Amino acid sequence: MIPKELKAGLSAYRAVVKKLPDNSAVQILCALEAVRAYQVFETVFWESKSDPIPPLGAEIARLTATLTGLDGEYADAIYDKKVAHQPVGTNTALAANKVADTKTLTGELYSSLFNRFDNRHYFAEATDLLRQRIDRNAIGYDWLQGKKGLDAGCGGGRYTVALASLGAAKVTGIDYGRDNIKDAKLRSRSAGIDKVNFRHADVLNIPYRDNSFDFVFSNGVLHHTTDPQRGIEELFRVLKPGGKMWIFLYGSSLWWEMMDVLRPLSAKASRQQMQHVMQLMGYAPNRIFKFMDSLYVPIIESYTAKQMEGMLKRAGFADLQQLHRCVETPFFRGVNELLWDGEPFADVRWGAGELRYLGQKPL
Ligand SMILES: C[S@@+](CC[C@H](N)C(=O)[O-])C[C@H]1O[C@@H](n2cnc3c(N)ncnc32)[C@H](O)[C@@H]1O
Repeated sequence: MIPKELKAGLSAYRAVVKKLPDNSAVQILCALEAVRAYQVFETVFWESKSDPIPPLGAEIARLTATLTGLDGEYADAIYDKKVAHQPVGTNTALAANKVADTKTLTGELYSSLFNRFDNRHYFAEATDLLRQRIDRNAIGYDWLQGKKGLDAGCGGGRYTVALASLGAAKVTGIDYGRDNIKDAKLRSRSAGIDKVNFRHADVLNIPYRDNSFDFVFSNGVLHHTTDPQRGIEELFRVLKPGGKMWIFLYGSSLWWEMMDVLRPLSAKASRQQMQHVMQLMGYAPNRIFKFMDSLYVPIIESYTAKQMEGMLKRAGFADLQQLHRCVETPFFRGVNELLWDGEPFADVRWGAGELRYLGQKPL
């Protein structure tokens, strides 16, 4: 996936990152450099319409030059993909590389991020985004209206509430972040929304019987788990025959490759150090959210459309329909819209885009 023009620069960069010492000055420097590079990547990916490869190459060379010379002791293990994806500092046991409980760490990260959203972004915006995705893909509302659904990995419940607002009879949100669940219950109760309920649970072991729901929905969750295939099989199991499944997973792209470049660098700093640096630099909460989401979640996988379709079919789903269209606001055009319109270099940047599918459990 990495273009060959970037490969040499990246291996020089990786060799330098591997040698970085671990002291507080270097941690803060790494935090600053990661934020600065992220800012450049944001411009290259979201604002520019020209070939992204030269500016990305230049930024990787700049990072390499800045970090060169900061040599010293550095645990090789940090560069191991698994450890780089589980940043030191989120948890002391993890720093000792002993914790395998990805779902607890993931739940804890998202709980700390979602609770910063205000109610408007949480509820009204999510409903608008979901409605746009349904309308632009012309799939109608029959699959959810008057039906009983599951929102697997609901976070703080924004789409659980959106599904109910768009006509579902009852939606159950499950998530492994305890504070997410607490937050979702509190927000929905105080907004007087009674068609939803929330429960702390693992999407890889869904605590409901076979054929319990008329539809299942999972937005941006399974690519953060240890076993996405199992998660898809669990969704299939709890869905009634004839019921619809809606799932979103990250598509493989140059963007995720660039996040993988930054993850070992940001892993040098703790979440708290990083958030502090971003606040000092005047970053708005939603930018901090996106950055922390991409760089601190223990696991991120991304897929080609073929891989994702393979996973869905293996679980038994049929009538798969890829939802190519996404959303647009006055300030933002979603990745799939850029791809749909064939914007210059959109495919180089965004690769497989956002992979959203609607499917059915056969009768
Ligand atoms: C990117 S967030 C998406 C949240 C929500 N679907 C949304 O779009 O707002 C991913 C969510 O998956 C949850 N999660 C990750 N692994 C999980 C697991 N094994 N069981 C339950 N929830 C999990 C996290 O706690 C987090 O809230």
